[in-house]
Amino acid sequence: MTGNRSLSSRLILYWVVGSFLAFFTLPATVYLPLTALRVGDNATTGLEGWTTKRARNLVVDSLRQTAEGAKFVEFTPALRTHMARNPEFRFAVFDAETRALLPGSFIDLAGYFDRESRVETRGAMIHLIDDPNPNARGYDRTIDTPIGNMRVIVYGAYFHWDDVLYQLYNYLTLTSLVAFLPLCAVMAIIALFVVRSGLAPLHSAAERVAMIDVNSMDERIARANLPMEVRPFVDAVNSALDRVREGVARQRRFAANAAHEMRTPVAILRARVERLQDDPKKHDIERDVRRIQNIVEQLLALAQLKERAMAGSEVLDLGETTLSIAADYMPVAIDNGRNIEFEGPAAPVTARADRWAVDSIVTNLIENAVRAEPEGGTITVRVGPGPTIEVVDHGEGITFEDRERIFEPFWRKHDRPSGSGLGLAIVRELLNELRGSIDVRATPGGGATFVVRLPGA
Ligand SMILES: Nc1ncnc2c1ncn2[C@@H]1O[C@H](COP(=O)(O)OP(=O)(O)OP(=O)(O)O)[C@@H](O)[C@H]1O
Ligand SMILES: [Mg+2]
Repeated sequence: MTGNRSLSSRLILYWVVGSFLAFFTLPATVYLPLTALRVGDNATTGLEGWTTKRARNLVVDSLRQTAEGAKFVEFTPALRTHMARNPEFRFAVFDAETRALLPGSFIDLAGYFDRESRVETRGAMIHLIDDPNPNARGYDRTIDTPIGNMRVIVYGAYFHWDDVLYQLYNYLTLTSLVAFLPLCAVMAIIALFVVRSGLAPLHSAAERVAMIDVNSMDERIARANLPMEVRPFVDAVNSALDRVREGVARQRRFAANAAHEMRTPVAILRARVERLQDDPKKHDIERDVRRIQNIVEQLLALAQLKERAMAGSEVLDLGETTLSIAADYMPVAIDNGRNIEFEGPAAPVTARADRWAVDSIVTNLIENAVRAEPEGGTITVRVGPGPTIEVVDHGEGITFEDRERIFEPFWRKHDRPSGSGLGLAIVRELLNELRGSIDVRATPGGGATFVVRLPGA
């Protein structure tokens, strides 16, 4: 479960728990060592100062009032125990209103204090100058008690380690808890802000990475603005991309070289076959060699595509260009018993593209359409409106599931001897380079319609 928790919530949790501990152990972790070492304000206090609050509370708990209203200090068991543990412990309680000393108080201690003083002590650490023990401490404080406002003076108790626990316990009150809450809220907001803003650049970096494919292998994640902690990760992704790009380039070079090397021997083979005596097998061999030649040419085109596409596009009259490609293919179609019909645009349409690329795209689509078209049928090549070319056939069509697959290299629906499955892969690559697109739809009444969109001039 912790594996999925967000960084901010984890940070907030640790922060809140950590600061809670720090806040509520402050008396033991900070004040106590400071007092023991007599640093700063605590220099004159001494550890004995720690016992005074506990002693005073004991005395307050022992205050009683008779039915007639007489107030006094009762020697409760708790008070007795404390006195036994601290033989030098003494206390004196004055009624803050009447200034009378409550029975039970230590007379000698009370003698040190001026009852008629016009000063009300709200809390003061005291030391009796003639006390031989220089560490002895006491506390003088006027507080509200169950029997009224009282000036309670305690003096001379030893420091015991359980006084620390007592202090911690007293510190853990609802008031200090409530005081702690705003601090918690502020820390949570800071944690949230730090994590969110720190990781924001990572989100945009992720969006960039998501868009990288083999056609945009030069993209890298910018390191600027990224927190130092995630930089090693980003560097690793960038260097992985470098290696992948290098690998893709190597494969492209290999395919280009292989296709290029095969081209000449295949051309020679074809020439030799054509020169053979007429033989029943000659026709079959010729067809096979043509097919090999087709594969080699397509592979070469695919491999060289990147370099050739760098040459830069020109402004083409799309109607004229497409018409001339369709006209070139017409004899082949007629030979195969199919017809090609051309529908030009009403007004001239221009597109920004390379002539050789459009040639390859349209030829591939017409070739496929002629192959799919039933014998005696007519395929339609339509240009416009806008820089679009449609190639419409009435064959078996392309099922919805196959609409992506047909663009994968070497994918063919049927294992016919003609075709290598590279045509549409090349078409898609070319359109990527040209920043165009291709769509497949069903022809009304059956068949496939390919729609090519090119960037306008
Ligand atoms: N107009 C179409 N109608 C029906 N199926 C098609 C059509 N065009 C393509 N396909 C299917 O998609 C597959 C892939 O087409 P693609 O053009 O990539 O390869 P190919 O035509 O088989 O071979 P190549 O084009 O390399 O000579 C084809 O084999 C065919 O099954
Ligand atoms: Mg094809």
